Amino acid sequence: MWYQRYFPYHKREHTRTFLYFGAANYLARVWLNGTKLGEHVGGFTPFDFEITGRVADGENSVVVEVDNTRRADGVPSIHTDWWNYGGLTRSVEVVEVPEAFIQDYSLHLAKSGKGGLLEGWVQLNGGVPGLEVFIEIPDAGINYKSPISPNGRADLSLDVNDVACGKKPRAKCRDSLELWTPEAPKLYRVTIRAEGDYVTDEIGFRTVEARGTQILLNGKPIFLRGICLHEEAPFRGGRAFSEEDDRTLLTWAKELGANFIRLAHYPHNETMIRLADQMGLLVWDEVPVYWEMDFKNPATLENAEAQLRDVISRDHNRAAVALWSLSNETPISTERTAFLKSLAEYARQLDNTRLITSASDKAEHPDDEHAALNDPLGEYLDVIGLNEYVGWYGKYRPEDADKMQWKFAYTKPVIVSEFGAGAAYGLHGDTDTRFTEEYQTNLYRHQIAMLQRIPSLAGMTPWILMDFRSPRRTLVGIQDYYNRKGVISDRGQRKKAFYVLQKFYQEKATRSTASNPAP
Ligand code: GCU
Repeated sequence: MWYQRYFPYHKREHTRTFLYFGAANYLARVWLNGTKLGEHVGGFTPFDFEITGRVADGENSVVVEVDNTRRADGVPSIHTDWWNYGGLTRSVEVVEVPEAFIQDYSLHLAKSGKGGLLEGWVQLNGGVPGLEVFIEIPDAGINYKSPISPNGRADLSLDVNDVACGKKPRAKCRDSLELWTPEAPKLYRVTIRAEGDYVTDEIGFRTVEARGTQILLNGKPIFLRGICLHEEAPFRGGRAFSEEDDRTLLTWAKELGANFIRLAHYPHNETMIRLADQMGLLVWDEVPVYWEMDFKNPATLENAEAQLRDVISRDHNRAAVALWSLSNETPISTERTAFLKSLAEYARQLDNTRLITSASDKAEHPDDEHAALNDPLGEYLDVIGLNEYVGWYGKYRPEDADKMQWKFAYTKPVIVSEFGAGAAYGLHGDTDTRFTEEYQTNLYRHQIAMLQRIPSLAGMTPWILMDFRSPRRTLVGIQDYYNRKGVISDRGQRKKAFYVLQKFYQEKATRSTASNPAP
């Protein structure tokens, strides 16, 4: 697909200008006024080109070529169970910044769990060393400054309680920082000033960690009541990109009683993540290393690393994001595990404040009453993701879940990152008839019971919130190129299974509030 448009621009002194893309699927080539600016590979992360010296004072013409052809060495590669929507799928913007500008920053609650210790950094682009960066957090009474080192970086370490407590002995002083939780998603307005530039952001402060088989939020065990979703627009189809699209989907997830969403299988638009921050939904953020890939190819690894770097760079200040997911259902091989091991190391290097996970569907059934996940990938993860379709794919019926005992090779928290069954909204029959709402509901009942018998279960994200388009789903009159495993149809109709899951999540939430009252 080729895109072209004219845009007027008025050049200003001491200003730098960038052309910014929210995303373009898959290979994008960009020209400005006939000059090629560059290329970008990867369909789900932002990229930009500096046009300071190239943009004209007056009329400009930008041309973009976007090719969504799949490639065996691509990320993702040839086969996906989602529609390969191509082209400019998110916004394109002209961005102006001062000559010396705040390129990136990170501010988060230190893992030490010391109530109010915030840590992070600010990276300047341009500017003279030796000056200072200023951090303002009015609601927390913070006015903090830190020197900028020669490489334009300023490290941040500020204790909110120091300010709030002043001379009062620590013991007499309650933590003043309100921590972000799904129930109370407190966001602080933070302003960062340096040289002639400033950035304001809404940031929540919380810690997330794994301990044994538990996931802890702010030091307390949390059960992740989740749901998977694709970045597809309700009602009209196509890629979801607007706040309205995203808010509709996340409101449905909240209505389910969810406190967690798995954004499958690629980085969704930034608005989705910011809404999760505001609405109180923890996030599983994933890069599209999906099914078979060219794991031997260094260029494929580089591509995956670039997508991981870009999503971490975009979302690392979002309290909602708790897990970086490296892959989904990749076939076990030495090359594959080495590929994902290095991705895991790279993710920790880029951000050691979150949990690293991946979804594996490589469970084995030694007999009809036992299932085990021994995927060697687990060694490199903080949280094990399990996709299992007992009762839908393979020989087992939904009821067979009642006898199934699960074992995991690693003593780590487990999230059942997929289970489910297809159902066409309004198609009714007995519980043995596939694609009926009764079959799907029956499967959910047996699955929920089975999952609760997994001791290391820390969360679940059934597949999936809403029916979505897929080139692989061709059952006429039932699928019609839609994967029908949604608990809600693509037209927003709730299927019977929606209410089974909602009831379970409401009970779970009530129980956890009872055993874990808010401070
Ligand atoms: C897989 C896969 C999904 C797919 C789902 C399904 O587990 O991860 O992308 O859509 O199963 O078969 O419905």
